[in-house]
Amino acid sequence: MAKMAVSIVESGEDAFRKIFKYYKRRNPPPDFSDVIDFSRGVQSHKIAAAKLDPGAVRDLEAAGVGLKPVSDWRAFSLHGYPGFVFISNPFLLGSQPFWVRQCLKTYPQKPNVCNLDMHMSPSETQDIWGKSLQGLSRAPSGKNEPKTLLERLRWVTLGYHYNWDTKTYSANHYTPFPADLHQLSSQITAACGFPGFKAEAGILNYYRSDSSLGIHVDESELDHSRPLLSFSFGQSAIFLLGGTCRQDPPTAMYMHSGDVMIMSGQSRLLYHAVPRIVPAPQGHTSLDMESYSPASSPQDNTVVEQMPEQDWTVCSKYIQSSRVNVTVRQVLGTGQSFPETPSHPPSSRTEDQTDTYHDRPADGDGVKRKRSSSGDSDVVKA
Ligand code: OGA
Ligand code: MN
Repeated sequence: MAKMAVSIVESGEDAFRKIFKYYKRRNPPPDFSDVIDFSRGVQSHKIAAAKLDPGAVRDLEAAGVGLKPVSDWRAFSLHGYPGFVFISNPFLLGSQPFWVRQCLKTYPQKPNVCNLDMHMSPSETQDIWGKSLQGLSRAPSGKNEPKTLLERLRWVTLGYHYNWDTKTYSANHYTPFPADLHQLSSQITAACGFPGFKAEAGILNYYRSDSSLGIHVDESELDHSRPLLSFSFGQSAIFLLGGTCRQDPPTAMYMHSGDVMIMSGQSRLLYHAVPRIVPAPQGHTSLDMESYSPASSPQDNTVVEQMPEQDWTVCSKYIQSSRVNVTVRQVLGTGQSFPETPSHPPSSRTEDQTDTYHDRPADGDGVKRKRSSSGDSDVVKA
């Protein structure tokens, strides 16, 4: 926690909102000196090495999804936040590009749902990647070119599609969760002591350099005993982790490309937010990414595969100014099912119906956000 930030908080106030605004501020810029940077290791008394279970994941399995052997992961816990685990980039050198491409090219595809579906027809949002290629590869003309669909992408939902209006998931709006992302998530959760994790819902957030994510708690999942995972790719972010009420001042930390966060146990339902995107420091994006070489897969069971050079050209250009965050959630406990929803009988809904889904609404935390009907607004959380 920045001393500056703490000193501006008086008791009884909404401490989280004050600190959110502090880190979001442009003029003058905030003091970042107390933002925890886990990539530097155990740097303060607040940080400790977290114990993992290296026996839970075989090295070959880990390599198949682009992860280092669990014994090589640098995992940390944070004093005062039981159940919170921060894994500082456990990805093998050169494997992040695969996941970045999944986020930009594969996961936005139908039947997954994205912000553009809220005001465009399914055929218009059918091939976001393909329709964006021309615009993205063209040299800047100096004119105000229309933004490509990829540049207008703000969120994608996977599995049980989150309804931003009702803040619920439902049995009748589900499409298969991507098998590769499920595999990645279940290995990480297993290593953290949660075997049998089921990746059932995913939210991808696409941030530009001026985006932020409002203060919120992820409580829509029906089983809070299951962990929530968060992956970060591209530019870095300031992440604020607070308490169970808004008066608890949050702890600020960097999330760099490849970093993974697990919120479980007592930390599963804590307030959190992303007030600011910051440029990735040297060695956090470019090095890692540029070392990517489209080598062939060493074994057949790998999920992480080679990619055409043209794909990487587009991805690397995108992440030079953007950040992608993926959160993966288990919605239902073992044997649990959704309660009946009498207002929406299943027969009245079709698979491609998206009329109840809208751009992410502001959450009333008092933080002002730019919004527009085109969906090109800040990333905001319900
Ligand atoms: C979320 C979330 C955090 C991030 O999508 O619920 O909290 O780092 N994302 O973008
Ligand atoms: Mn969240």
